[in-house]
Amino acid sequence: MLQPFFVMIPPAALSSPTTNACQDWPIEHALRGLCEAGYAVVPGFLPVGLLSGLRQGGLEAWEEGRFRPAGVGRGSGLQVRPRIRGDQVLWLDEAPIGGALERLRQGLELLRLAVNRALFLGLVDFEGHLAVYPPGAYYEKHLDRFRDSDLRTLSCVIYLNEAWSPGDGGELRIYLDREASSPSLDVMPQGGTLVVFLSGEFFHEVLPARRQRLAVTGWFKRRE
Ligand code: OGA
Ligand code: MN
Repeated sequence: MLQPFFVMIPPAALSSPTTNACQDWPIEHALRGLCEAGYAVVPGFLPVGLLSGLRQGGLEAWEEGRFRPAGVGRGSGLQVRPRIRGDQVLWLDEAPIGGALERLRQGLELLRLAVNRALFLGLVDFEGHLAVYPPGAYYEKHLDRFRDSDLRTLSCVIYLNEAWSPGDGGELRIYLDREASSPSLDVMPQGGTLVVFLSGEFFHEVLPARRQRLAVTGWFKRRE
């Protein structure tokens, strides 16, 4: 059984230089959680300028109507089921965010390489989307795996919300025991926070959001 582990980093530590080649990305905090528990929560992961660039680009794309209701399943089995998940998504490949997206990709690439070095997961690829949960939307308890494919190996969520408060709902609830409904950990979708977890190990859900909730959600895939 993986032991619960929650990485809480004091803001001062996040602004000090890191010892690896990742500059202002506190990647070692994510690695520590992943190594010890299979998941990590890293507040302040995104540099502040990048956070606002992604947020602004995401909201503009939303206003332009570029998002589509998210589906459940894939290929010919893909279905829109708002009673299971109510978010709307825009795949990063199709998002017109330019420079901010490029910087995000660079950071995620550093994370991929560091995770491969530390955990030998053999991650080769990242696929991800922007996701908007309109007020009232949620995503029921699930595992980030398709029935016919176990390539998604590391789930990765980065929140893009300003000044989220506990009354806004929309927490990510991570179930720490694969076989039981407790213990669990609720993470507020605060702008800049990164959550990573092993896709095949952790059931999770998004509780109903009371205001619009914006995130980048994606998956590192392993070699086929
Ligand atoms: C998902 C998901 C979590 C979140 O999109 O599969 O679980 O906090 N998202 O947005
Ligand atoms: Mn998920």
